[in-house]
Amino acid sequence: MTPEQIVLVQDSFRKILPISGTAADLFYDHLFEIAPEVRSLFPDDLVTQKKKFIVMLATAVNNLDQIGKIIPAVEELGKRHASYGVVDKYYEPMGAALIWTLEQSLGTEFTPEVKSAWTETYLVLAGAMRVAAATAPA
Ligand code: HEM
Repeated sequence: MTPEQIVLVQDSFRKILPISGTAADLFYDHLFEIAPEVRSLFPDDLVTQKKKFIVMLATAVNNLDQIGKIIPAVEELGKRHASYGVVDKYYEPMGAALIWTLEQSLGTEFTPEVKSAWTETYLVLAGAMRVAAATAPA
């Protein structure tokens, strides 16, 4: 990612934070709409999950300029996901739901440049998770 893309992601995430509760609601609702098969992997009550997801995303976004520092934690996250029953193909709808939520929440501020910077961010995180999950001992 370029330094400009990192700034675009960090600035736009700062705008989402005050409405992160609503954004998380939108995100999971949309995810379960486009990939209903993943609903049963999650607990019925999503309150804690929503908070954990936002905190993890915030940590990643804040550290994009020193990504090497958080990659080990992201890899561990990927390995845990395999144990939750998350398979490779679920990463695609997850990414689509994230981009859709950002678009809904940021409106016209979600420019093509912001969109591609976020797409890149998700690919970096999901990529590290998927590789770690694939190489984790069974
Ligand atoms: C960049 C991508 C993702 C991030 C940052 C992320 C983040 C998290 C975090 C922080 C947790 C809390 C538990 C833990 O730390 O181990 C979690 C749990 C979970 N995630 Fe993800 N996740 C991602 C992708 C996915 C995908 C693609 C799926 C597939 C549907 C998924 C499904 C789940 C499930 C089922 C749980 C466990 C819920 C529970 O049993 O409490 N995640 N995720």
